[in-house]
Amino acid sequence: MISAGLAHAGLLAAMHEQAFPRDPWDAASFAALLAMPGVAGLIDERGGFLLLRMVLDEAEILTIGVTAPRQGIGLALMREGLRLAAIGGVREMHLEVAAANAAARALYTRLGFTQTGLRRAYYPDGGDALTLHLVLA
Ligand SMILES: CC(C)(COP(=O)(O)OP(=O)(O)OC[C@H]1O[C@@H](n2cnc3c(N)ncnc32)[C@H](O)[C@@H]1OP(=O)(O)O)[C@@H](O)C(=O)NCCC(=O)NCCS
Repeated sequence: MISAGLAHAGLLAAMHEQAFPRDPWDAASFAALLAMPGVAGLIDERGGFLLLRMVLDEAEILTIGVTAPRQGIGLALMREGLRLAAIGGVREMHLEVAAANAAARALYTRLGFTQTGLRRAYYPDGGDALTLHLVLA
């Protein structure tokens, strides 16, 4: 697991395109995100990435994806992101997930996330979004 910096923007974009083929983010978008205050990135060399944004005692998962599913990479990225956030003083983590995204929902449930809201027809395809949170120990 390594910390992602501006030099990784191209790699992040390539991995994001594999994880989200219908919603690619380019390298410039990742560079802009990584330059924002409070944004941290992680790369798992086995094939995965996570970006989170920390603001005072709250944080948000901006994106997470893997290129080799169901090998524990997503879980490892989330655990490391939560560990970093806790070290940074974060007490509550937020994220948003498509209601239809069974894999991601299962991952977040396993980590203890619970639903805080429902955004109906939130995505361009008409799908609902759920907002989830986790209070860090
Ligand atoms: C969601 C995602 C990051 C999960 O990463 P992953 O590395 O495949 O997940 P892991 O192997 O760490 O799985 C951890 C646990 O999550 C759950 N899980 C993961 N994928 C699952 C699936 N397809 N179906 C059911 N449960 C699943 C299981 O509980 C799993 O534990 P187990 O394998 O011991 O049963 C991955 O599917 C992905 O990149 N999806 C495309 C991008 C995306 O949707 N990102 C999230 C946007 S909110």
